[in-house]
Amino acid sequence: MILIGFMGSGKSTVARELGERLSLDVLELDDEISRLSGKTIPEIFAEEGEAGFRSYEHQVLSDACKIDGIISTGGGIITYDDSYEIIKNTERKVIFLNAEFESLYDRISNDATRPLASQPKAQVRALYDSRIERYKRAADLEVDTACCLEDTMKAILDPTP
Ligand code: S3P
Repeated sequence: MILIGFMGSGKSTVARELGERLSLDVLELDDEISRLSGKTIPEIFAEEGEAGFRSYEHQVLSDACKIDGIISTGGGIITYDDSYEIIKNTERKVIFLNAEFESLYDRISNDATRPLASQPKAQVRALYDSRIERYKRAADLEVDTACCLEDTMKAILDPTP
C-alpha cells in the first residue's frame, strides 16, 4: 500500500496503524529523505530548494518500491512528474487520505517542520486545490479522515459497505 494525501491528512498515523494490524514494515519517506541527505526537511528546503527536496523524494520512493511494506509519502510527492508516474503505475494499492481543507489546515498551521505549511493560508489552500486532481487520479481508493482512526481503518481494510 502507498498512502498519499495533503499535509495533515493523517498518512503517518494511518500507516503506523496499518503496519501494526497487518504486521508490515512502514516506510516513512520524509524520514528516509532525512537519512539519505543527512538534513532535516526544513534544512533541505532552505539549502537546496523544493527541487532538491523532490529529487531526494523521487529517489527514496524508487527505493521503497523495491521492498515490501507500507509506504507513507509526503503531501507533495504527486507534484513531481516522475514520482507521480511511479505512484500512478504501481501495482500496490494507492490510498488517498483526504479531509476538508479547513480541518487539514488546522492540523498543519504553525508547524515549523513543514516549510510549505508556513505560507499564508490562501497559498496553502491554492496548493491543496492544485493537487487534488492528481491525488484522485493516482488513487485506487479515497478515504475521508475527518472522523476517527477506526473509521479510516475500516474504510481501508473493509471497503465494502
Ligand atoms: C510536503 C509535505 C511534507 C514534506 C514536505 C513537503 C508537501 O510531508 O514531505 O514538507 O509538499 O506537501 P507531510 O505530508 O507528511 O507533511
